[in-house]
Amino acid sequence: MDILIKNSRVIDWSQDFKGDVYVENGIIKEIGIDLQKDCAVVDGEGMALLPSFIDLHVHFRDPGLTYKEDLESGSKAAVKGGYTMVNLMANTKPVCSDMDTVNYVLDKVREIGLVDAHQCVSITRGFDGKDISHLEKLGPEVRMISEDGYDVMDSSVMLSAMNKAREKGITVMCHSENHDLSKVDMRLAEDTMTWRNIALGEYSGCAVHIAHVSTVDSMSYIVEAKGRGSRISCEVAPHHIALTSDVVYRVNPPLRERRDADYLIKCIRDGYVDAIATDHAPHTAEDKKNGSPGMVGIETAFQVCYTKLVCEGHIDLPRLSEIMSKRPAEIIGANKGQIKIGFDGDLVLVDLEKDTVITSGSFLSKGRNTPFEGFKVKGEVARTFKGGRQVYPL
Ligand code: NCD
Repeated sequence: MDILIKNSRVIDWSQDFKGDVYVENGIIKEIGIDLQKDCAVVDGEGMALLPSFIDLHVHFRDPGLTYKEDLESGSKAAVKGGYTMVNLMANTKPVCSDMDTVNYVLDKVREIGLVDAHQCVSITRGFDGKDISHLEKLGPEVRMISEDGYDVMDSSVMLSAMNKAREKGITVMCHSENHDLSKVDMRLAEDTMTWRNIALGEYSGCAVHIAHVSTVDSMSYIVEAKGRGSRISCEVAPHHIALTSDVVYRVNPPLRERRDADYLIKCIRDGYVDAIATDHAPHTAEDKKNGSPGMVGIETAFQVCYTKLVCEGHIDLPRLSEIMSKRPAEIIGANKGQIKIGFDGDLVLVDLEKDTVITSGSFLSKGRNTPFEGFKVKGEVARTFKGGRQVYPL
């Protein structure tokens, strides 16, 4: 697909200038000023053009829990939020522990055609906490494994999984939560497990990605590990920087204190946080009433982060682009996330001046479970392109 997007403010991690971007056969071919091409032209005057976003942590609930979300509703929600690639978690029904389930998901995502996806496989088979024999059979499509909310309680099993993952060049994504301590103290549960997962990662030499870091201590352990040159990356969720525990909303890890959110923001500014990831976790109203943890987030992430991080002056747009596009692409191994010749023509046009009120009634996700209802935010995704083809609005 060929397209020329003209006169917008072109921004990625390394640049911010007014100009044009030309995409040929789905790939960025030329970047400049006053480009003329014989193809579809989009006038981006007054808009910012960024690489579309990549979400390293989403639950699209397919197969098996499609009353909460499915690959089609999740894909539509993603492009509305400016995302063209998602990393899907394995806590589906059945749990994703084999290539049949991976292939089912990837084929369906391809057929829907709105986003690209990576499907995570569970670290232990069916989240049983013990058996890692399925890891041997994983194909090269699988670049990350995760036990999601279960984590792996037995450290010797986790170490064996990390050894196997290192051998196969797979990254272990850790939802760090010590379930023996969850009922005692959720902060201790996260902090002890973050420390353990870093230690096992360093011992095994495996690449480790720490999911939704939410506390001062967990983040400090990561900062220290990065200082030692460990193969460690981490993500922070929009709700852990924009909300604190005075908002009553059930999510794992929980909403924390002001000092935690402030420290996460400082670490985003100082370059220690690799990615913003939403942990988009759709639930029905009834499931939420019955205590299911989690919130949707893929349709509101850019607005929330732009408002909280950029409009409040903590970081600039190139840094936001780095943590929403460039670094997530590098971690998942995608040729995306930068406006550079040769990268995928996955782009998003954003109206930075637009004031919006978050209204769950307008979500394309099946989930309406958001604590951001009624929040005033700045910035709205106007159009999303994948490989030069407009995928939002459709
Ligand atoms: C996750 C979900 O709903 O799948 N919810 C959440 O609060 N993050 C599961 C989990 O990680 O606990």
